[in-house]
Amino acid sequence: MFSAVILAAGMGTRMKSEMPKVIHKVCGKPLAKWVIDAAKDAGANAVLTITGHKSDMVRETLSDASEYALQAEQKGTGHAVMQAADFIKNHKGSVVILNGDTPLITADTITKAIEYHAARGNSATVITAVLGDAAGYGRIVRGADGGVLKIVEHKDATDEERKINEINSGMYVFESDALISALERLTPNNAQGEYYLTDTLEILLKDGQKIGAYAIADNDEIRGINDRVQLCEAERIMQSRINAAHMKNGVTMRIPESIYIEADVEIGNDTEIGSGVTIKSGTKIGSNCVIGQGSTLDRAVIHDNVEILNSVIINSEIDEYTKVGPFAYVRPDCRVGRDVKVGDFVELKNSVIGDGTKISHLTYIGDSDVGKNVNFGCGTVTCNYDGKKKYRTVIGDNCFVGCNTNFVSPIHVGDGAYIAAGSTITEDIPDNSLAIARERQVNKEHWSDKRDK
Ligand code: UD1
Ligand code: MG
Repeated sequence: MFSAVILAAGMGTRMKSEMPKVIHKVCGKPLAKWVIDAAKDAGANAVLTITGHKSDMVRETLSDASEYALQAEQKGTGHAVMQAADFIKNHKGSVVILNGDTPLITADTITKAIEYHAARGNSATVITAVLGDAAGYGRIVRGADGGVLKIVEHKDATDEERKINEINSGMYVFESDALISALERLTPNNAQGEYYLTDTLEILLKDGQKIGAYAIADNDEIRGINDRVQLCEAERIMQSRINAAHMKNGVTMRIPESIYIEADVEIGNDTEIGSGVTIKSGTKIGSNCVIGQGSTLDRAVIHDNVEILNSVIINSEIDEYTKVGPFAYVRPDCRVGRDVKVGDFVELKNSVIGDGTKISHLTYIGDSDVGKNVNFGCGTVTCNYDGKKKYRTVIGDNCFVGCNTNFVSPIHVGDGAYIAAGSTITEDIPDNSLAIARERQVNKEHWSDKRDK
């Protein structure tokens, strides 16, 4: 059991954004939420986020994922953690300090760092990495015996210290009592005039406590996001992690570099995802589906054995064995039944479509309740809007809708009704009736001969 404190009060100036840095998203999830989730997945029993810059916006976004403390003025990382003093005192044992702008940190690394820390009986353990170019980072200064002596910030370092390429990731494990006692003794006597959290290590060492460093295996995990280029690099890494996890679960991907799947998506085994597909958070896809090239699924629920080609599906549910597309647009709040066909250039909105119904081409169905085994001819339109209000169209089971039919809603069509092609339906149709609503054809014989004269 341990608690976690996430530092997220900074400005993030280099993002050049009205939005605080830590709520910019990677794969559909805010940066700080990735960090909070990693801490929780590693077993954190309480998480507190330190907010400052645009605090309200950060708290609104992260909501009840975390507890919060305010750092009204940013006077350094040590000062930030001081704002969490009550929380740290209330959670005895180990406390992990993480940064809100390092979304690639994993639960596995946090777990290993805590195990390392506990096994050695440390009061403080810093997570470190060895970098080719260490410029800008705090450096890990070790003694002759290899033990950690202190962390020196780049701006405070001597030329000799700047040659050290083992750096401070900005993530740590502390024993809560030791951390509180060291925080109380921090001073801002340094190049930046800030309270450095890093100084706590030297203080604890001088107290005779054990401090250490846990070197990370994958340097990508400590990548901090400072600008949009780094945001994009982190997203690329996250995208490949997410895709690899789905592939390991039995999902086939065609050209995975082109497939963008956000966090919190479920995909069943033997489902195949084509190139250029976008799948947004909250989507669930069953087994044995095909999600064809270029499709976008946003909060969609797709049951087993569904085929979707070049289509967009938003906040809607598609039942098993149904085929959608190519080039269909399923807008929010649709429930499409089993073994349905939603063909090319078909748009659905806020409608229920019964099992076995075929809507093969060039059709708009909005605000409708359609029964089972209905056949829509090409070019059907529900006229659901009179310029002021929207109305529903209700169509029973086993109906046949001729090509180029308009339903001027509100309309109720009974079961087993037939509608002649080209009809504009303005009145309800009883069960098992044929409705014809168009002008009778008149043939004017020899008309064109006469016109030509
Ligand atoms: C810090 C470390 C440095 C380490 C580096 C890793 C210190 C003194 N230095 O430096 O050793 O190599 O991180 O990236 O800790 N923050 C607050 N309140 C503040 C100041 C910072 O919440 O008053 C937050 C920032 O939003 C950020 C994190 O703390 O998430 C780190 O702050 P930053 O200013 O980036 O520290 P560095 O100078 O990079
Ligand atoms: Mg930094």
